[in-house]
Amino acid sequence: LSPQDMAGQNVLVTLGPTREAFDAVRFWTNPSSGTMGASVALAAWLRGADVTAICGPVHGIYLPSSINRVDVSSAQQMYDAVHEHWASMDIGCLTAAVADFCPEPYGDQKFKKTGKSAGLDLHFNCTPDILRSLGEAKASHQRLIGFAAETADVQQYAEGKLKRKNLDLIVGNDISRADSGFGSATNAVVMCGASGKVERHDAQPKPDIAWRIWDWMLDL
Ligand code: C5P
Repeated sequence: LSPQDMAGQNVLVTLGPTREAFDAVRFWTNPSSGTMGASVALAAWLRGADVTAICGPVHGIYLPSSINRVDVSSAQQMYDAVHEHWASMDIGCLTAAVADFCPEPYGDQKFKKTGKSAGLDLHFNCTPDILRSLGEAKASHQRLIGFAAETADVQQYAEGKLKRKNLDLIVGNDISRADSGFGSATNAVVMCGASGKVERHDAQPKPDIAWRIWDWMLDL
C-alpha cells in the first residue's frame, strides 16, 4: 500500500515538450516524451497529493482521471496555465522540456517554397522562463523543483540553476547517456538541494526516480 504522506498537498507538475509554431502546420520542438513528468505526477497522486499536470503535446501518457490534466501546446500557453494555478499550490515540479526559443511566425497560412533552392530563414525569440518566474513569485510555504538536462558537468550546471532560479531542489540528468534522459525509460540523476545536500542515483526506472524526489521533499 502506498503511504499517504503527501495528503493535503497541492502539487503542480509540468511535463512533455512544447511546440512553437512558425506557420499553420509547422513547429519547432524537442523529443521529450513526458515520461519523467508523468511519473512524478503519478507518484505524488499515489502518495495522496492533489495533482495538477500541465502537459505539453504528449502521446501515450495516461494519467488517472482524478489528476487535473491541462493540455497546452506552446511555452507561452504553459506559462499562462502554470501561473493560473500557482497561487493555490504547495509544491511545483517543473519537468517539461520547454522550448527556450520560439520562431517568429510567418503568418497563419502554410507558407510555400519560393523556388527550387531557396531556403528558409527563421528568426527566434526567447520564450518566457516558467521555472524562473515561479522562483521569483515563490511564497515562503511554497517549494519548487526544477530539472536540468545537460550533456556535461551535470552537477555544476544544475547547482548554478538551483541558485539562479531560486529552487529548493534540482534534478540534473545526463542526456548524453543512452540510459538517461529524453525518451528513455530510465534516468540517471544527481539531486542537489538548496541546503547543499547532494544525492546521486544511477540509472533507475523513472517511476523510482520520481519516488526518490518526493522522499527528498518530505524530508525537508
Ligand atoms: O535553464 P533550463 O531550460 O535548462 O532549465 C530547465 C528547467 O527549467 C526545467 O525544470 C524546465 O521545466 C524549466 N524551464 C521552464 N521554462 C522554460 C525553460 C525551462 O520552466 N522556458
